Amino acid sequence: MARKNSNDIMDKIVSLCKRRGYIYPSSELYGGLTSCWDYGPLGAELKRNLKAYWWDAMTNRRDDIEGLDAAILMHPEVWRTSGHVDEFVDPMVDCKTCKMRYRADKLAESTCGKKPSKTPLECGGELTEARNFNLMFRTFMGPIEDSSSTVYLRPETAQGIYVNFLNVKNSSRQKIPFGIAQIGKAFRNEITPGNFIFRTREFEQMEMQYFVRPSEDDKWFEYWRQERWDWYESLGINVDKLRWHEHGNDELAHYAKKAFDIEYEYPFGWQELEGVHNRTDFDLDRHMEATGKDLRYYDEQRKEKFVPYIIETSAGCDRTILTILVDGYDETEVKGEKRVFLRLSPRIAPIKAAVFPLVKKDGMPEFAGKVYEELKKQFKVFYDESGAVGRRYARMDEAGTPYCLTIDGQTLEDETMTVRERDTMKQTRMKIAEAVDFLSEKVR
Ligand code: GAP
Repeated sequence: MARKNSNDIMDKIVSLCKRRGYIYPSSELYGGLTSCWDYGPLGAELKRNLKAYWWDAMTNRRDDIEGLDAAILMHPEVWRTSGHVDEFVDPMVDCKTCKMRYRADKLAESTCGKKPSKTPLECGGELTEARNFNLMFRTFMGPIEDSSSTVYLRPETAQGIYVNFLNVKNSSRQKIPFGIAQIGKAFRNEITPGNFIFRTREFEQMEMQYFVRPSEDDKWFEYWRQERWDWYESLGINVDKLRWHEHGNDELAHYAKKAFDIEYEYPFGWQELEGVHNRTDFDLDRHMEATGKDLRYYDEQRKEKFVPYIIETSAGCDRTILTILVDGYDETEVKGEKRVFLRLSPRIAPIKAAVFPLVKKDGMPEFAGKVYEELKKQFKVFYDESGAVGRRYARMDEAGTPYCLTIDGQTLEDETMTVRERDTMKQTRMKIAEAVDFLSEKVR
């Protein structure tokens, strides 16, 4: 069912994103391009922080996972082997009445092009029979545009990891179980993109493939489910809005033996945020068969060779950004005025702290400027001296900045300043010399 209030909240978030420089419609000067979005100054910073947070958890803090950054364009045979050329399809229907196109399996969640309060099942439009549509974007490599030069924009980053399994294993000398992590763009010619950055045709994935002994797949599958759940919790996402959804046989991707999605309750309903999949030996087996290369792992201790099973954790970067924005968006009445707060975790907030002189006189701007210059060496901070301090706080609350540091008359006497926390709006006094330690503890 199309939800009544969902548009309202989503519209407010889209408008906040535009206003504060998080996300803009792509090519807006030209009227925009469906489902494409550009990250503005704060959005780019948030995205960088999110990716760094994931990368840190998945690689830097672990001895058993290596990083990779594979090319988007891969040999076209990779996608035939992986099954994407034949099986990466969605069933599509057309509405003969409003001429819109829908995913046949998502009609109950779609909105009619002419009557947005109704789904295509309810609006009375006549739908065609479903037919399959391949989601991969095609392009040509080199100057000749024919089938021999067709290449695909990768629809998932995972295959870049599989075809590098041997390279990474040999150069890193990792022993099973070990993983390879990658962040990168993926492209899918979605039939019905929508809900802002939830489903787009160009998006970023944060994927990790963990190679295990086949007999230990269930154990590692459960391990990674827990790890990924904990990661979202550590990001400050409200866990009451998270749940698991196990894929039934009719939902399982062609490569998966078992799959669980972490779902989030968006304003438009419960939807997938991340997938944890047991891909078995499907991918390595198929690449081995297609290339004739031996991708088996040799266990020196046990003197045995086997094709590892793969446990995959596959998160959407943009979808996580949407989750963070939706989860953090809050309207609260402050002194009779409705105010917007973006309650982002300090770990990923674009601006960690704002530095204000209380007033533009009595040496306060000079003092605040020095504090700002000092903090800037370590953190993304913002200096603002324009307007009443209350308005400056409000601007930072809406931009998601967790702390505001204010230099006032007392600062000049004892080198203390006020630290205002966005979420409690409480102010405490702190020695300026303690600010670096304070912010370090909060943001790292
Ligand atoms: N390698 C496995 C894989 O790609 P998936 O469930 O198709 O699995 C993983 O995608 C994640 O990628 C999803 O949970 C979602 O977060 C993100 N994702 C997939 N399609 C997307 C789209 N069209 N727009 C934005 N994010 C998308």
